[in-house]
This record gives sequence, C-alpha cells and structure tokens, in this order.
Amino acid sequence: MKTLLHFFNFAICALARNLWHSNTTYYNPVLPGWHSDPSCTRVDDTFFCVTSTFIAFPGLPLYASKDLRDWKLISHVWNRESQLPGVSWNSTNQQDGMFAATIRHHNGEFYVICEYLGITGGIIGVLFKTTDPFDNAAWSDPVIFHPDKIDPDLFWDDDGTLYVATQGIVLQTLDMETGELSQPAVSIWNGTGGVWPEGPHLYKKDGYYYLMIAEGGTATNHSITIARAKNITGPYEAYNANPILTNRGTQEYFQTVGHGDLFQDEAGSWWGMCLATRSGPAYEVYPMGREAVLFPVTWEEDEWPVLQRVEGKMSAWPSMPAINRDIPGNGRSNSNPANSSIPNNLIHWRVPREGAFQITDKGLQITPSRNNLTGIPYGPIELSGQRGLAFIGQRQTDTLFQYSVDLASKPRTANYEAGVTIFLTQVNHIDLGVVYLADSNSSNSTGQLYFRFRVESQNIPVAVPQENIVPVPAAWRNSTLRLEISTQNNSTYELSAMPADSPEKALKVGTASAQLVSGGNGTFVGSLIGAYATCNGAGEGERCPGDDAAVFQRWRYEGLGQQIAEDEVV
Ligand SMILES: *[C@@H]1O[C@H](CO)[C@@H](O)[C@H](O)[C@H]1NC(C)=O
Ligand SMILES: *[C@@H]1O[C@H](CO)[C@@H](O)[C@H](O)[C@H]1NC(C)=O
Ligand SMILES: *[C@@H]1O[C@H](CO)[C@@H](O)[C@H](O)[C@H]1NC(C)=O
Ligand SMILES: *[C@@H]1O[C@H](CO)[C@@H](O)[C@H](O)[C@H]1NC(C)=O
Ligand SMILES: *[C@@H]1O[C@H](CO)[C@@H](O)[C@H](O)[C@H]1NC(C)=O
Ligand SMILES: *[C@@H]1O[C@H](CO)[C@@H](O)[C@H](O)[C@H]1NC(C)=O
Ligand SMILES: *[C@@H]1O[C@H](CO)[C@@H](O)[C@H](O)[C@H]1NC(C)=O
Ligand SMILES: *[C@@H]1O[C@H](CO)[C@@H](O)[C@H](O)[C@H]1NC(C)=O
Ligand SMILES: *[C@@H]1O[C@H](CO)[C@@H](O)[C@H](O)[C@H]1NC(C)=O
Ligand SMILES: *[C@@H]1O[C@H](CO)[C@@H](O)[C@H](O)[C@H]1NC(C)=O
Ligand SMILES: *[C@@H]1O[C@H](CO)[C@@H](O)[C@H](O)[C@H]1NC(C)=O
Ligand SMILES: *[C@@H]1O[C@H](CO)[C@@H](O)[C@H](O)[C@H]1NC(C)=O
Repeated sequence: MKTLLHFFNFAICALARNLWHSNTTYYNPVLPGWHSDPSCTRVDDTFFCVTSTFIAFPGLPLYASKDLRDWKLISHVWNRESQLPGVSWNSTNQQDGMFAATIRHHNGEFYVICEYLGITGGIIGVLFKTTDPFDNAAWSDPVIFHPDKIDPDLFWDDDGTLYVATQGIVLQTLDMETGELSQPAVSIWNGTGGVWPEGPHLYKKDGYYYLMIAEGGTATNHSITIARAKNITGPYEAYNANPILTNRGTQEYFQTVGHGDLFQDEAGSWWGMCLATRSGPAYEVYPMGREAVLFPVTWEEDEWPVLQRVEGKMSAWPSMPAINRDIPGNGRSNSNPANSSIPNNLIHWRVPREGAFQITDKGLQITPSRNNLTGIPYGPIELSGQRGLAFIGQRQTDTLFQYSVDLASKPRTANYEAGVTIFLTQVNHIDLGVVYLADSNSSNSTGQLYFRFRVESQNIPVAVPQENIVPVPAAWRNSTLRLEISTQNNSTYELSAMPADSPEKALKVGTASAQLVSGGNGTFVGSLIGAYATCNGAGEGERCPGDDAAVFQRWRYEGLGQQIAEDEVV
C-alpha cells in the first residue's frame, strides 16, 4: 500500500512537472531587422545587447530586455558627432565604421568597446562608458586606442587586469585611462581552420578561460568554435566537437549562424545571442541582412557549453524569464516623427549635415542634399555622400510590412525630389520619389511634377527594373501625397502613390525584388525603410540651389508577418 501511494505520489509529481513546467516557446529573431554581431550582458534582472552599425549614425544601438524576447531600444552608445569629431565624414566606404562591439558591466559601469574602420590611419579603437545606459547623453566620449585587428573583446581578470582579444585571435592588455595596449599582441588561438577567426569573447568558469570565436566568414560557412586554457595567454585546447554552433551545410531557413556572446540569467541558466540571416540555403533574398537570434545554452561544471541549434521556433527552459515589458524606452517600431523630437530608432547614413532634419509645426522637415541617395561614391566630397545623405530611416524589421508617409510639400525647383526608399547602401536602394522635372514634354505646368520609381543596385545578379516616370495626376496636385512601400510577398516590394485623402486611388508605380537589396555592396548591413530629399546634383558646392525643403508627416510602419521557416510565417 505504502509503495502504491508512493507510486501515485511520484506519478502525480511527474505529471505536475510536465504540466506546470513545460518548455517555453519563443521565436527568432528576437532582434529582427539588421542587428549584426550582438554582444550582451546582464545586470540584475535586465539584459543588455549592443549591435554593429558600420557607417550608420547614431550607431551602436543598445537594447534592453527582462524576458529575452521583447527588446527595447534604450540609447545609442555613439550618438553625438562630438564623441568622434570628423570621423564619420571621413568614411569613404559603405561598410567601414563601427564594427563588432562588446558590452560588459564592471564596477558599477557599463563599458562598450568597438573599432571604427576606414578613416585616415586605418582603425581606431574606442572605449565608451556610462552609469546610465538609458540616456544617450550619459555615454562618455571614448578613450581612443590603436589596435591592429578588429572585433575587440573586453575581459577583466580577477586581479583587475583588462584584456582585449581581437581578430586572429590575439590578446593584449588595455589601460582604460590612457588607451595603451601591451605589445606585442600575443597569438592565443588560430581557430579550427575556418577563414577569419574573429569576434572573440573570453569567459572564466570553473578555473578555465574559455575563448569563444566566430570562424568561416560571415556568410553561409559562419560558425562558432571554442577553446579553453588554464592560463589566459594559453595554451588553448580546442574542443573536439567544434563547431559548437553553425547552420553551415544545412537546409535551415536561418543561415550564416555565428558571431555570438554568452551570458547568464538571474537563475543561473546560460543563453547566447548571435547573428543569422533569414535566407534559406539559396542565400539570395535576405533584405534584412544579419539579424540577432537567441539560443539556450547548457553549461555544466567543467564541461564545454552546449548551444542549441538556431531555428525560427525555439524551445527553451521552463525557467526562461517570464514575459515582462517593464523597460523604459521605445518598442521596436514606435517611430512617428511628428512629435517634438526624432524617435531614436530613426537613423542616417553617416552623421547628417547640421540642421538637415528638423521637427517643425508641419512635420519632419528634410533639407535636400545635393547628392541623391547614390551620389558619386569616391567622387567630389560634396557629391560622394560623405557630407551625409538627406535620408532618415528605420530598419525593416518584418518580412511583411506596410510603410507610408505623407509628403506635405511639393518640389518646385528643377531636379528637386522627395521620396521614400528601401535603402541598403548608396549603390543598393529602391526609391519612389516625387520629382520636379523641368522638361518641356507637356504644355501644361502640371506635367512637371512626376512620380519616379528608380532602382540602383550594383553587385547583385538580378536584373534592375526599369525606371518608371509618371506624371502626378492633375487632380492630386492640391492634395497631400502619400507614398507607400509594402510587401507583395516575402520577396517583392511594391511602391505606390496616392492622395492622402483618397488612398483608394493608389497608383502602383513600381515593384522590385527584395534581392536587389540583399548582399551586393551591403553584405554586412540590412535594409532601412525611410524618407529622403535631394536636388540630384543641381547647383554647386554642398548646397542645393533654392530653398525647397521637404516636409513629411504621418510616418507609419506596420509589421504584418515574420517568415521563420521555409513554410511558416508568424
Ligand atoms: C579627416 O581627413 C582629413 C583629410 O585626410 C584629415 O586631415 C583629418 O585628420 C581626418 N580626420 C579624422 C578625424 O580622421
Ligand atoms: C597562429 O598562426 C600564426 C601564423 O601562422 C602563428 O605565428 C601563431 O603562432 C599561431 N598561433 C597559435 C596560438 O598557434
Ligand atoms: C565554405 O567552405 C567550403 C569548405 O572549406 C568551401 O569549399 C566553400 O567555398 C565555402 N563557401 C563559402 C561561401 O565561403
Ligand atoms: C601564464 O603564462 C604567462 C606567460 O607565458 C606566464 O608568465 C605565467 O607564469 C603563466 N601562469 C600560469 C599560472 O601558468
Ligand atoms: C526544453 O528546453 C531545453 C533548453 O532549451 C532543450 O534542451 C530541450 O530540448 C527542450 N525540450 C523539449 C521537449 O523541447
Ligand atoms: C508621439 O505622440 C503620440 C501622441 O501624443 C504618442 O501616442 C506617441 O507615443 C508619441 N511617439 C513617440 C515616438 O514619442
Ligand atoms: C519626354 O519625352 C521624351 C521623348 O518622347 C521621352 O523619352 C522622355 O522620357 C520624356 N520625359 C519624361 C520625364 O517623361
Ligand atoms: C496636362 O494636363 C492634363 C489635364 O490638365 C492632364 O490630363 C495631363 O496628364 C497633363 N500632361 C502631363 C504630361 O502631365
Ligand atoms: C488647386 O488649388 C488652386 C488654388 O487654391 C485652385 O486654383 C485650383 O483650382 C485647384 N485645383 C484643383 C485640381 O483642385
Ligand atoms: C561596390 O563594390 C564593388 C565591387 O567590390 C566596388 O568596386 C565598388 O567600389 C563598390 N562601390 C561602393 C560605392 O562601395
Ligand atoms: C544622382 O546624383 C548623381 C550625382 O549628382 C547624378 O549624376 C544623377 O543623375 C542623379 N540621379 C538622378 C536620378 O537624378
Ligand atoms: C518565401 O516563401 C517561400 C515559401 O512560400 C519560401 O520557399 C522562400 O524561402 C521564402 N523566401 C524568403 C526570402 O523568405
């Protein structure tokens, strides 16, 4: 009888465990849209992650979460030109700038270390800190250092020494006050033979230094490998079951899995974030570029960590932190710039020109730049885009979405244009503009305002659609015009125009494959959706002739679906 009772007790307990402690389901990417090279840490009950931004500005966005699923943008680490005077405007290439960062919390302060590429003299290292990560202004000016290699890690050993491992993998100590690096850098591990051993992070656990890195290049061969040593300088022993995470050679929808960081929740469970690309093995259509994904980690004492394979639908520990959105800051797509200030999820391509973006009574005012979104890269400085593009946008964060904005002004001067774009780089973008063309094709003045659909796409093996120019219907000329970008399906954009007061009259001006903004000259970045104004090279010097400014109102972005597997949209 006693045994039987015992048995029932046992059975009931097991049943209860299954009922009340079943795994938690969540979906990747947890940081959808362009969020490459995530590095994360936790302080008390809050997780913090920073991601790469290359030449976009403000850069190094910092996200916070209490439940690992819903992340809020709380600040940008690099948010003022004065933090790095002149650096942005000296950047000539599309994918230089702020490479992979590392975030750590040490002695009550948050530190973000990164490297800026492509300026006079090559690479500069930057170390920012703050006690209040929720406030842009609280991020310090950086301590500058001069590394040879990219992807700096931050690791304080128990004796307080600060180590910085970089691509290679090489190790140096860093003086946080002076920026002095120990010389020579010590080679500690070359990885397991994949190209580009990089993105190192050091962890100390059970008397070992664990060195986790990315290898295989950031495309479909990407992977995470690990080694450990008793001494920080080595010798490092590679794990015999490397790589510990990759989707290389698989049919998974999430590809390019790699470049990650590990951290623990308050209960002691380990987690990791890394980058992945929603492209399927074909790796052709991936307009959002490299996104950030979350995976559970099992890491027993003295053992190597076990990282769960990255997929769209994930099964995690029952103890995963409960849903909790109590974080100050913006959600992912809260971005109506009609308010008194420009929302922090709207960014630019390089530091913008002084006063180019202003919130006025009428809306968001953009002073056109002489260079259009393409400009003449590497050409004269005022047309190269190096003095900033008159462009502002947010990440495309959903496979399916609808974006629209109202243009409350109309171009009145030849070659002036205001429009919306899906922008990957200056040489990979899809635009719908309202442009004033001073041609004499029509005898009536109404003929001079046109909708123009135009695609610039280099280095991508797909046909560029033809430019389409259609006159703005005369009956619409007194209306505010609405410009819209939507997704017909997971790989096609549709660009339409309509009078804001009669959206049912929408005119489809163009459609374009999302492949046109996948890879090309922007393999490290992801598409931004937003608005621009330009005079297309008219005039001289840095300024457009005349004083037309574009005024945008009613900025709307609505996510309508996430493709998370070859055959599943949520
Ligand atoms: C920017 O480039 C100019 C011209 O090469 C150089 O004189 C200046 O030092 C550079 N500024 C920075 C911050 O790199
Ligand atoms: C890594 O490779 C370089 C170049 O071959 C070599 O000099 C270095 O000793 C290697 N490092 C380690 C830790 O094996
Ligand atoms: C991936 O690695 C394999 C084996 O080293 C190599 O043959 C292939 O070219 C690589 N693919 C890419 C896209 O780098
Ligand atoms: C670690 O390596 C350094 C440099 O090779 C050496 O000076 C030190 O004695 C080593 N420490 C231990 C605990 O083995
Ligand atoms: C529950 O989550 C853990 C941690 O992610 C995982 O290892 C395990 O496979 C999951 N169990 C099920 C039944 O999915
Ligand atoms: C803008 O203002 C509206 C109405 O006052 C408010 O609902 C919205 O949250 C604000 N948006 C931002 C980004 O502050
Ligand atoms: C003007 O007319 C010419 C010749 O018919 C045509 O090629 C051109 O595309 C027209 N321009 C515009 C802006 O419609
Ligand atoms: C000229 O005006 C007429 C009517 O006002 C309009 O239908 C026509 O489209 C205009 N021509 C052009 C080229 O826009
Ligand atoms: C547009 O407004 C102007 C000035 O208010 C007016 O003269 C004109 O008739 C209007 N045109 C249309 C098509 O409504
Ligand atoms: C685009 O990439 C090609 C090939 O790498 C390169 O020649 C060209 O300079 C790049 N253009 C820009 C604007 O980055
Ligand atoms: C964009 O700007 C460049 C450089 O000023 C110019 O050559 C090109 O014609 C412009 N594109 C359009 C569509 O006006
Ligand atoms: C689009 O959806 C189809 C299935 O309907 C899938 O095979 C394809 O991989 C998806 N493409 C992208 C880029 O998501």
